[in-house]
Amino acid sequence: MKTIVTKSYDEMSKTAADMFETEIGNNPELVLGLATGSTPIGTYKELVRRHIEKGLDFSRTKSFNLDEYVGLSGDNPNSYRHFMNEHLFNHINIEKENTHVPDGLTENPEAYGKKYDQMILESGGIGIQLLGIGSNGHIAFNEPDEELPVETGLVELSEQTVEDNARFFQSVEHVPTQAISMGMGSIMKAEKIIILASGEGKSEVLSELLNRGKVTSRIPATFLLLHPDVTLICDEEAYSGVNR
Ligand code: PGA
Repeated sequence: MKTIVTKSYDEMSKTAADMFETEIGNNPELVLGLATGSTPIGTYKELVRRHIEKGLDFSRTKSFNLDEYVGLSGDNPNSYRHFMNEHLFNHINIEKENTHVPDGLTENPEAYGKKYDQMILESGGIGIQLLGIGSNGHIAFNEPDEELPVETGLVELSEQTVEDNARFFQSVEHVPTQAISMGMGSIMKAEKIIILASGEGKSEVLSELLNRGKVTSRIPATFLLLHPDVTLICDEEAYSGVNR
């Protein structure tokens, strides 16, 4: 895993946006794997700026998001579809029909998950995948457990994740406890992966990830150690536990 430590959140965001810009420049039909949460907001802001000021062109790109809460429709302000529209899709020239966020209202998550993975495959596969990391080491909503899902499907959120995400909701009781999430296999098939981490709250999990040198389903992000092209971009605060 290549690691880039930046001075600030803004520098982390710009570094990630640089990589997206380069990859889209190399392949205007790039398939983007996208993430939600607080961490990627600066990257999306920077991509929007580059679209407006420099004409960064998304017209031929496609996108697939990692996950969506079960029970929330795309127009619910807490849904990840809504988040993506607000932070990115409404402000760039990607065709809306080429953007995919799992459907939180699907009645058959298993069949839906298979279809989602198939759509990714048929689009040519994800060229660049953006990830955050949960304070518990999850990637997408693949939570620490004895076993991890390979394919996209229904997952239960851990207590830690529900607590971490309560800040976006009225109260912790309003946080959905299930999601449709891309599986570990779906993520690991991406050609290139960028994982972002910012702030002291991620320092412990990053030290586990970088110091351990072993893969464990108790820290799902450690599976990224097996992927040939992963870049971790983190700020100094998030990195602060690594050499402690
Ligand atoms: P965050 O979430 O960016 O809001 O910290 C990261 C994640 O849960 O993957």
